[in-house]
Amino acid sequence: MAAPSTSASALIPRPALIRKAADAYRISDSTAIGATRELGGIAEKLRAELSASTGFAIPIRTSGEIELVLDPSLRTPAAYTLDSSSRGVRIAGSAEGVFYGTRTLLQMLPPDVFRRAPVVGADWIVPGAHIEDEPRFEWRGLLLDVCRHFMPKEFVLKLIDLMALHKLNRLHLHLTDDQGWRIEIKKYPRLTEVGSKRPDSMLTYDPPTFTGEPHSGFYTQDDLREIVAYAGERFVCVVPEIEMPGHAQAAIAAYRKLGNTGEKLPVRTWWGISDNVFNTETSTLRFLQDVLDEVMEIFPSPFIHVGGDECPKKQWKESPRAQARMRKEGLKDEEELQSWFVRQMDSYLESKGRRLIGWDEILEGGLAPGATVMSWRGERGGIAAANAGHDVVMCPSPYVYFDYYQSRNRAKEPHAIGGYIPLSKVYDYDPLPKALSETGKRHILGAQGQLWTEYIPGPKHVEYMAFPRACALAEVVWSPAEGKDWRDFERRLRPHLERLAILDVGFRPL
Ligand code: ACM
Repeated sequence: MAAPSTSASALIPRPALIRKAADAYRISDSTAIGATRELGGIAEKLRAELSASTGFAIPIRTSGEIELVLDPSLRTPAAYTLDSSSRGVRIAGSAEGVFYGTRTLLQMLPPDVFRRAPVVGADWIVPGAHIEDEPRFEWRGLLLDVCRHFMPKEFVLKLIDLMALHKLNRLHLHLTDDQGWRIEIKKYPRLTEVGSKRPDSMLTYDPPTFTGEPHSGFYTQDDLREIVAYAGERFVCVVPEIEMPGHAQAAIAAYRKLGNTGEKLPVRTWWGISDNVFNTETSTLRFLQDVLDEVMEIFPSPFIHVGGDECPKKQWKESPRAQARMRKEGLKDEEELQSWFVRQMDSYLESKGRRLIGWDEILEGGLAPGATVMSWRGERGGIAAANAGHDVVMCPSPYVYFDYYQSRNRAKEPHAIGGYIPLSKVYDYDPLPKALSETGKRHILGAQGQLWTEYIPGPKHVEYMAFPRACALAEVVWSPAEGKDWRDFERRLRPHLERLAILDVGFRPL
């Protein structure tokens, strides 16, 4: 058979082991997918994808040339093996592993396989190979901030498909912040009636310039259920974030009693950090636990994110009620008051069978016993928490903040928040820093790229900031540390970008 196309070996993320073989399989109008009923959903998705671009029917039968097989013997649920030869393709693993094997299979075919209409005259060759693959880390995440700029549901679904193609599996949705509350809460309708709308948005911070346009948007609970189900079919877990005690101004704008000053506040139009944080009344904690109840009904994620970052203590210092709370609970300073606040949420979530996760500020004043930490202010917080036996997701801003510039030549880039994180810096990142103890290493769940959207007003711009850096992140969190090779990645990335172009991803060109 014909020699494999150059794109065939351009797999991203790089599999743990790949041995190439001489003979190849050609998908034709006589190709069928073989799958048992347990793998029916995955087979159907693959059928739809292959059929759209090839124009062949590709029926699903009990056995076929493309054989999907449950193999419970592999080490982790995401692991799979793929064997291709002139006789056909066999993908084996748990359902999750088989799904990932189908993502690999798509990348072994010509990039045209990602078209949504039949490509006439294409040669659908799957090169011969033996692949054994499994992820390096279990948490392979992307954060999308839908508060600073609301993103349409359809785009969230597209991003989930792109994550799955790169074997990323945690979509962290940042749903509440000073500048917008984006999740419908039935018990407290003003959160979205009032909190999802702001009259203006910043264009630049220094000097302060504004769009002069109102901005609004939120997801209904049905929207979010649809997103969660869509993600689940692609083995992506959606992790919701409800920010507290800081980044709370949109909620306080909706319900004044949640704040410290009694002042009537607007939803914030400036970026940056607001002094307006939740008060520490029992009624406010209950309010937030009511919100979490509805959040837990929508999101099956074991982890519920409660933020915890950037909470100025000014209002608590000035508030007699907050000071009384500190005395009553025997807390020595406002850091301990924040820690107490987070502990109330930690035990609440634990009582519901969930786990609290928060930004590394939750370490200050003492970490709640069950808490998992997202280390964003560099790696120090993550290292300390992991060495102390807490689970950690590495999100350090110097390496994986995808809202930072991708070039030193800022004049040629769209306006961004600052920083400089070229593709190679993401690729070179290792989520296991040397300062980790052996125990600490076991507590690093993985890593996550952040898409904060202050200066990212819409989907196309998100795509520009996310890709190809998310391709590099995929290698960091999926591929083995051994064999990491920037030149090899660059070589594979070029044909991979052809795929992204066909998928209408507005990536930043190399
Ligand atoms: C963060 O970037 N404030 C978590």
